[in-house]
Amino acid sequence: MNSSRDTSVELFRHWGLYDRIILGNHMRHQQMALAVTKAAESLNAPCRVLDLGCGDGQLAAMALCNCHCEWWHGVDLSRAALDSAPQLFPGQTTIQFTEGHLTIVTHQLAEQWLVGRSTPPNLLLASYALHHLSESQLQQTLADLACVPQPRAFCWIDLYLSEGESRQDWLHRFHTTALPTWSNLTEAEVSEVIAHMQTSDFPLTESRRVELATQFGFQSHEVLFRDDFYLASLFR
Ligand SMILES: C[S@@+](CC[C@H](N)C(=O)[O-])C[C@H]1O[C@@H](n2cnc3c(N)ncnc32)[C@H](O)[C@@H]1O
Repeated sequence: MNSSRDTSVELFRHWGLYDRIILGNHMRHQQMALAVTKAAESLNAPCRVLDLGCGDGQLAAMALCNCHCEWWHGVDLSRAALDSAPQLFPGQTTIQFTEGHLTIVTHQLAEQWLVGRSTPPNLLLASYALHHLSESQLQQTLADLACVPQPRAFCWIDLYLSEGESRQDWLHRFHTTALPTWSNLTEAEVSEVIAHMQTSDFPLTESRRVELATQFGFQSHEVLFRDDFYLASLFR
């Protein structure tokens, strides 16, 4: 499993750069937080959240600050990210972190849910994390997430390719039209982002996302937010 695209975490070992990307709303975290709030509210019940590739949990904290959230379980490979998270959630939410590969952790959790050894989440959140996985890791993760019983909501937020667009064309489009607007980053930081994207970012098209989610047992695709680069999908 370590042979995966684990270089993807290099950018997140020091959290400051990504924090400024969030601050500039360059990856539409404000809109995505509203999308996650909508997914949580659609459950009409207190939410129990599994947040895969959670980073410092900022997105979930923004989204759930006015929701009744029983617990939030964040999973991330980056210790630096997890270390920043505890201050972000309101007092009544029980917080748990697991430092590890999200595919492995999800598989271990699914084994527990299936035999009733732990309470499953009802809100599955994967925000800007699944594009770091290999195809086989992604499929394994979706199969394990689909073990969560209904009612459930799966909010899959990620970069995406336009239909028919190659990864190279997408990288070029991103570097020439999106990155020039990230004005609160230095030139060196922009270069770091480009290097990270070239080695570690493997987004899917929307249709491939829906096809895979459906193949592994998720239904009723709803688009919660979309612009030219970022897509929030809700599955059940
Ligand atoms: C772009 S950040 C997204 C953070 C947060 N979810 C958000 O939306 O702002 C990607 C996060 O995924 C984590 N990550 C990447 N690959 C991972 C993996 N295989 N297992 C667990 N975490 C991973 C990185 O460490 C990083 O914190």
